[in-house]
Amino acid sequence: YDGRELWFAQNKILKANVHLKPNFVNAIGEGTTFDLAKKELVSGLEGLFDCTINYQNEVQPGNIVIALKNSGFVDAAISNTEMTSLGEEGFIIKYIASKKLILLTGNTEVSVLYAVYHYLRLLQTSKINLSSLNIIEVPSYQKRVLNHWDNLDGSVERGYAGRSIWKWDDLPNVLSKRYISYAKANASIGINGTVLNNVNASPDILLPEYLLKVKAIASVLRPFGIQVYLSVNFSSPAILDGLATANPKDKHVVLWWKNKVEEIYQLIPDFGGFLVKANSEGQPGPMDFGCTHAEGANMLADILAPYEGVVMWRAFVYNANGNDRAKQAYEEFMPLDNKFRKNVLVQVKNGPIDFQPREPFSPLFGAMKGTSLMPELQITQEYLGFSSHLVYLGTLYKEFLWSDTYSNGRGSTVAQVSSNKNSKRISGIAGVANIGSDNNWCGHHFAQSNWYVFGRLAWNPSLNVRHIAKEWIRLTLTQDEHAVKEIASMMMKSREAVVNYMTPLGLHHLMGWDHHYGPEPWCVIPNARADWLPSYYHKADSLGIGFNRSSSGTNATEQYAEPLRELFDNEASCPLEYLLWFHHLSWNYELKNGNSLWEELCYHYQDGVNQVRSFRKIWKSLEANIATQQFIEVNEKLKIQEKEAIWWRDACLLYFQSFSKQALPYGVDNPI
Ligand code: GCU
Repeated sequence: YDGRELWFAQNKILKANVHLKPNFVNAIGEGTTFDLAKKELVSGLEGLFDCTINYQNEVQPGNIVIALKNSGFVDAAISNTEMTSLGEEGFIIKYIASKKLILLTGNTEVSVLYAVYHYLRLLQTSKINLSSLNIIEVPSYQKRVLNHWDNLDGSVERGYAGRSIWKWDDLPNVLSKRYISYAKANASIGINGTVLNNVNASPDILLPEYLLKVKAIASVLRPFGIQVYLSVNFSSPAILDGLATANPKDKHVVLWWKNKVEEIYQLIPDFGGFLVKANSEGQPGPMDFGCTHAEGANMLADILAPYEGVVMWRAFVYNANGNDRAKQAYEEFMPLDNKFRKNVLVQVKNGPIDFQPREPFSPLFGAMKGTSLMPELQITQEYLGFSSHLVYLGTLYKEFLWSDTYSNGRGSTVAQVSSNKNSKRISGIAGVANIGSDNNWCGHHFAQSNWYVFGRLAWNPSLNVRHIAKEWIRLTLTQDEHAVKEIASMMMKSREAVVNYMTPLGLHHLMGWDHHYGPEPWCVIPNARADWLPSYYHKADSLGIGFNRSSSGTNATEQYAEPLRELFDNEASCPLEYLLWFHHLSWNYELKNGNSLWEELCYHYQDGVNQVRSFRKIWKSLEANIATQQFIEVNEKLKIQEKEAIWWRDACLLYFQSFSKQALPYGVDNPI
């Protein structure tokens, strides 16, 4: 085992940086994580420069120095104000010209580890200009957390990369090597927390025998600065210990949670806290007892507070009787603004429905001003072709994080209102993991880039996602400049392609109703909940297509701040990509570009297919630059993707044609 997997696979220095081989490494500091940083730096440099690098006690020109604050060395080189601005996790990488050496420093051990990974990444991905090297990095979100939807039986809900990486049956005695690779991969992109188990939580995770297993995983992740969290079932006190109720106001229930939390912290002193899916899709919650989400969350938050633990309380709620599913989370949670404790983060999915290829941002962002909102992104491709389709999610994440909520005037982007860099509130961001026990970790080689880009954006949502794609390609696939450029351009188009061949123009939820894979816009299930069926969302009929959420319909547009509300509400000003999300329009509705709605829909489906065809061409042309195995595997998956893009186009167009009664326009292929 040489650790050369994921984005450590290439391990090649950029030609422009070969002259940067240090003479020695100085390490001024101590501690487990600091020692790890030392080790990672030296072995990283040795791999990149293909030589032996030794430590030296004396600080000399030509060295790399890693140092913790309060070492005399750092005090002399970096001002106090600068060090303070770094907080707990920020770091500095600076060329100290007077001493002719490179300094990597921060206030804590983990910040130095982050600096090491960042520097190693730079050596492989961008030309370093020594004289101007002065990097200051501070993460935007405090809690940068993966959510595993992993069950205790080893299955993974919506997981497409094999079984869970957590080997519950072997734990705590056997620690899989993959846990270390996992920890390293996460730390290298700044992820500092992980929820080990599914939000549809088995109460068993809180049994003493499972807590010992959790403790064992925590001990592997700790040196890498990663805290462990657990999803909990709100009924745990009743299910595990036979309490008569799980009512958060019942003193026996409160005592039960107090004891449980104490038991956890005795085993895992740096335990992160709980993630809770309550009163959602059949999960129990405080509303079962006439209490609110806030009362349920606060009960747990008060118990966790003395240990500095947090509660991540999910806002993924909708019920069969509501008028429009897209409005329900807002309706349920807005009245609770300002009612949550400081250590509660309300975790909100990026869009108001459910991880669709494209959704407008959830209107809770910006609206809940007195609550910490934690964006939840999905890394696993539940609605985006599982691990068969190449879809780089950097563009989706960026579109969401940079959506302007206008809640405090222009420029109140989702990233800005949720990261609270300068406020005292806790901030966080979560990504539903796509990791499994498959050899390539994520089922599709390119799916690794989605884990990577999630971490990089959680650290800094302002980063350019094309740049991140290129980083990932250089670290993972190839350093060939032409290939890097071509692959990056394919990745950058890939999300739009999937929107085009699955759900263009604001359509959503046309997938198979339970598995969410292929197209099923026609799906009818006797006695099924209306909001589980595609027809609820597309509302196609002889007159037209789309969900009228404008003021003449369900008025979901009202949940957005001006000027967005008006922009979305008016079909003439509504952006094309959200048109059928907010409006039901006739098949002949004329768009600004002169096309009818029907024509535009057909062209988008065709564009999606054409785009995938172009990806296949690009990939084929790069065979010489890619390792054989990776080349073949991606090639095979692209074949599936092309076939399925055609499947989506034909299925949707033939179905919608049965309402529009119009021919396919010129340029759109006849169904196969
Ligand atoms: C989706 C997904 C479920 C998941 C749920 C959630 O509905 O299909 O499998 O449990 O989201 O986020 O809680």
